Amino acid sequence: MKPIKVGLLGIGTVGAGTFTVLKRNQEEIRRRAGREIEIAMVADLDTERAKAIVGSSVVVVKDAHQIVDNPDIDIIIELIGGYGIARELVMKAIANGKHVVTANKALLATHGTEIFRAAQERGVMVAFEAAVAGGIPIIKALREGLTANRIQWIAGIINGTTNFILSEMRDKGLDFDVVLKEAQRLGYAEADPTFDIEGVDAAHKATIMSAIAFGIPVQFDKAHVEGITNLQASDIRYAEKLGYRIKLLGITKRVANGIELRVHPTLIPTNRLIANVEGAMNAVLVQGDAVGATLYYGKGAGAEPTASAVIADLVDITRLATADPEHRVPYLAFQPNEMSDTPILPMSEITTSYYLRICVADKLGVMADITRILADGAISIDAMLQKEPADGETQTDIIILTHQTQEKHVDRAIAAIEALSTVVAKVTRIRLEELS
Ligand code: HSE
Repeated sequence: MKPIKVGLLGIGTVGAGTFTVLKRNQEEIRRRAGREIEIAMVADLDTERAKAIVGSSVVVVKDAHQIVDNPDIDIIIELIGGYGIARELVMKAIANGKHVVTANKALLATHGTEIFRAAQERGVMVAFEAAVAGGIPIIKALREGLTANRIQWIAGIINGTTNFILSEMRDKGLDFDVVLKEAQRLGYAEADPTFDIEGVDAAHKATIMSAIAFGIPVQFDKAHVEGITNLQASDIRYAEKLGYRIKLLGITKRVANGIELRVHPTLIPTNRLIANVEGAMNAVLVQGDAVGATLYYGKGAGAEPTASAVIADLVDITRLATADPEHRVPYLAFQPNEMSDTPILPMSEITTSYYLRICVADKLGVMADITRILADGAISIDAMLQKEPADGETQTDIIILTHQTQEKHVDRAIAAIEALSTVVAKVTRIRLEELS
């Protein structure tokens, strides 16, 4: 059989990794796919660099349209990123009848509905294993391995940059800003780390997982997105004393009246496996009704780990290219006409437990005032810690862990606590998940 022809759009770190792994494991990949997979064209603005990577047997062009318009190309791999030109090229490739492999979580989380609809109409595949948790085959697990299950919730460490920063803050007792600079120096964080540290990258990935887990459209605009920029080293220390680690989690959960979709720093009991995922590693915990909890761990970024996911998609497409479109795996796991309109809940409606750090004047009655406000709001206290004021200091921190309650009750209680004359700063609230 003739090789399947691939056009690669963007040959940065992941593109180069894809080229290298495909070449190195060519024979084994051919035996699995049933035919040879050949990168025939590459588009990159830096054509000289691209040529140095791929050699003279591959056509290198500056204008990616030359690839998406070429009738000899069967599959395009989109590794440009972002929602601008990448969206235009993906839509054009689909219109031209090409299958698409992409690592672009931002594009899928925001324009997935439009992209999957167009692909469905044109009968082509859009595969995106590399978009969530890099080399971990979590899309495959959710879309195929767990199809027997009613998924109950997913909680993932799906951003390596922030997990590295949190690990360093905990290990070395350093503040966020100091660790971020070090992470940038070591190449763990981008020069512009905004999407990572503000939780946006994790929210893109959580949005994609929520769609596949629950058969709902991708709805990034409904996700609650909170990063790690406001986390204090002291919160990590207090959490540790109470038996918890703080991780940036992407959480999506099925509850009675809808679906929760949220990214925020989260206390997790230290004895959970996922709480011990350190450095730039990723992990996703999935709770299904039949299988129970399953945990997927590995590298969420990097040239070859991400290439591993990109090539797995190439192999899937190669195997299924001649199958009837209706016999292929649905883009979002559920058949397109079986999607549900279960709403994603506003944050005020979510239910979880809370860590509250309250900085107070060390005066008689302050603790009683706070516990009264919590009791009036039907918020039950699970644990409490009061730091002794340092010598000569007149204020101190009170740490409270609550039992499960609705976010709106906590919003009201925090407003009342902050109105007390003895409370000297804004209350720090970090959500807590037992993940049991
Ligand atoms: N920037 C991401 C991370 C990797 O730090 O995990 C690509 O999604």
